[in-house]
Amino acid sequence: MTLTLLHHLDLPNLRRKPSGTVLLLVLQSLDTNANSFGEYRTRNSRVVLDPSDLYWLAENCPTLRLIYPDLDESFRASFHDAAQIMPFLTSLVASSLDWIAEEDRELIWELSSTKMSDYNSGFRSDRTRVLRIGTLEVELFEPGFDFDHLGLKTWGSSHQLCNYLVNHFGGLELKEPVLELGSGTGLVGIVLAKLGMSLLCTDLPPIVENLRKNLDLNGVDRVKVSTLDWTDPEASSVEPHSMSTILVSDCIYSSSHPKLVSEMVARFLKNERDSRLLLQVPIRKGFVKERDEVWGLIERLGLRVLLEHVSNGKDDFGESEFNLRCYGWK
Ligand SMILES: C[S@@+](CC[C@H](N)C(=O)[O-])C[C@H]1O[C@@H](n2cnc3c(N)ncnc32)[C@H](O)[C@@H]1O
Repeated sequence: MTLTLLHHLDLPNLRRKPSGTVLLLVLQSLDTNANSFGEYRTRNSRVVLDPSDLYWLAENCPTLRLIYPDLDESFRASFHDAAQIMPFLTSLVASSLDWIAEEDRELIWELSSTKMSDYNSGFRSDRTRVLRIGTLEVELFEPGFDFDHLGLKTWGSSHQLCNYLVNHFGGLELKEPVLELGSGTGLVGIVLAKLGMSLLCTDLPPIVENLRKNLDLNGVDRVKVSTLDWTDPEASSVEPHSMSTILVSDCIYSSSHPKLVSEMVARFLKNERDSRLLLQVPIRKGFVKERDEVWGLIERLGLRVLLEHVSNGKDDFGESEFNLRCYGWK
């Protein structure tokens, strides 16, 4: 995919009345996910510039005129600094656009609002992320959310864990029954199911509906879903000491999590020689204490690290390091 970095001065000036086609083309090509992992399915329609649009661009936006003749569906434009794009998007939403036909005008307003939400880190609009891991392709619907519901988006941590699972599946010799804590959008469950395992994915009530939707989207029927709140495990239907494998990805991001997650491991992992815990954490600067605490608590349960794997990858906010530990009973 080509990603061209633009300057905000390259964008059409509304006072010069760009056509609806020019504005739609510019809006569709703005990539709000330049920093993320995977690709997003977009619903762009093919927009073709006519000679008068090309003339207008040559007169008013020479940089775009140079870029756009070669435009195809894979073209994407981004900005060094997201703040640069906001005045342009705001002016589109605020303008009457009365020189543009109603149908295009509505589309421009809709697209501008969506892009504004996407650039504004406090909220994200609905999207479908597509990940290719080895030969597997996974589609994950991520509904618009407001960062109170972190499980409605996929985190780089589960992507890294799945890369490891796909490449080392045979050697890990994971045994069923398998439980995942804090499954989010379901990536780990979908990948393990595609590798032939059955498992139980769990999360908080507001997250599990979308989790189920993603299992259906990927035609996966080996995965069961259940609510499991780590603060109230008695309320779940999962039997104590019933799981041979537990997977946890990016679930340590508050001071209460180390204790809660280690309690879930103590409660649900079988006390057998081939029981395994796979604990994947991103190495975020602000969470050194929580990471050390969870690793310490897990070892105090009587589990020991059988293997450790450090990887570099992406989260939606840029590059990150990730740590995976596979534990077994001492
Ligand atoms: C950062 S997300 C990671 C999601 C997914 N594992 C991934 O890596 O993409 C953390 C997940 O933990 C879940 N979670 C947080 N607190 C929880 C709790 N008390 N009980 C159960 N799940 C919880 C969230 O709902 C969310 O799905």
